[in-house]
Amino acid sequence: MLQIGLIGYGTVGSGVYERLSTTSKHIEQLLGEEIKIVGILVKDRQKKRALDVDAVVTTNWEEFCQIGQYDIIFEAIGGIEPAFSYTAEWLQRGIPVITANKKLVAEKGSILEKMAEEQSTYYGYEAAVAGGIPIINALKGTLMTTSISRVAGILNGTTNYMLTEMIENQRSFTDVLIEAQQLGYAEADPTDDIEGYDAWYKIRILSHLCFGEWPTEETFSRKGVSEIEDWHVEIGERFGFKIKLIGEACVSKSEVKGRVTPAFLTLTEPLANVRGVMNGITLEGKSINELLFIGPGAGKEATSNSMVEDFIFHERVKSVNRTTNLDVEEEKETIAHALLF
Ligand code: NAP
Ligand code: HSE
Repeated sequence: MLQIGLIGYGTVGSGVYERLSTTSKHIEQLLGEEIKIVGILVKDRQKKRALDVDAVVTTNWEEFCQIGQYDIIFEAIGGIEPAFSYTAEWLQRGIPVITANKKLVAEKGSILEKMAEEQSTYYGYEAAVAGGIPIINALKGTLMTTSISRVAGILNGTTNYMLTEMIENQRSFTDVLIEAQQLGYAEADPTDDIEGYDAWYKIRILSHLCFGEWPTEETFSRKGVSEIEDWHVEIGERFGFKIKLIGEACVSKSEVKGRVTPAFLTLTEPLANVRGVMNGITLEGKSINELLFIGPGAGKEATSNSMVEDFIFHERVKSVNRTTNLDVEEEKETIAHALLF
């Protein structure tokens, strides 16, 4: 029997629990083994929650570690600490960890991936970028040796939802932010969404997969939707542009560069029509021309689905590493969109 540990039982963690519970028969058929969630770690002892789970729930890390002989851990607490220490502990024991924590992956992914590699285990972060879009395992799997010259996308569901509602339906910033929080799209601290940090973590992860190195903070600039002013919206409306928060990375003069910034998109650009909580990612390269991925970028179902698929992908296929290099066939000297800044 595969014993599962769940670190975090909020929007995403509870989604993972539900998805594993409702599809356990199918998963067990695929894996040829029974699965059981044995332990759940949360933070707030006082929090009122409707917990109807068949697992031991604790706020104590030591107790959580001893509940079972875990075969796999799902981390859905977010942030750097204690998520980093918890993840490192399991990876060092050779136990695979599946995460949705883009901040941790962007900031500590190089260490954690190395740790996983040394212990011949798996650090899976499919759900950390673009929620329900299976971009990470596409890059690691079916696009393993495909040369990519540019990656760009709408990588934050909360702000795309907000921009859509504010511009198309004239709703207020505060109203739509509260709604995005209620829908479970926003980060625990929505500053990460509004100031572009969330998209900045995600484009750095994509850049690593497309171009090899884990990028440093200095080579990736960041501006959020908080910098959009009324006159930007008026100009967009007058000239028929959509305003989107774009993250992009490309290789220029053998150096990887990237940014997150609000941008004007003409209506003919595919990303211009990605609305609401949807995310969109384009990959460009000589042999693929342009690949476009569109799907839900946030939310309980899409994200937990990605985490569970990541787990099954690992169990069935075992992990492969993408072959990356900076010798792209075609360099992208310029950023394609009309930037607001
Ligand atoms: P959330 O609803 O705030 O849930 C966080 C959970 O983690 C809660 O159960 C909380 O415990 C627990 N937790 C927090 N700090 C902890 C600690 N120190 N020790 C033990 N438990 C702790 O957050 P979420 O939306 O599920 O997001 C979780 C992660 O998924 C984040 O990395 C986020 O960026 C990522 N993500 C979220 C989405 C989304 O659409 N929401 C999509 C993709 C990725 P309590 O219940 O006791 O407070
Ligand atoms: N807050 C994030 C977003 C969650 O809105 O995109 C998904 O990573």
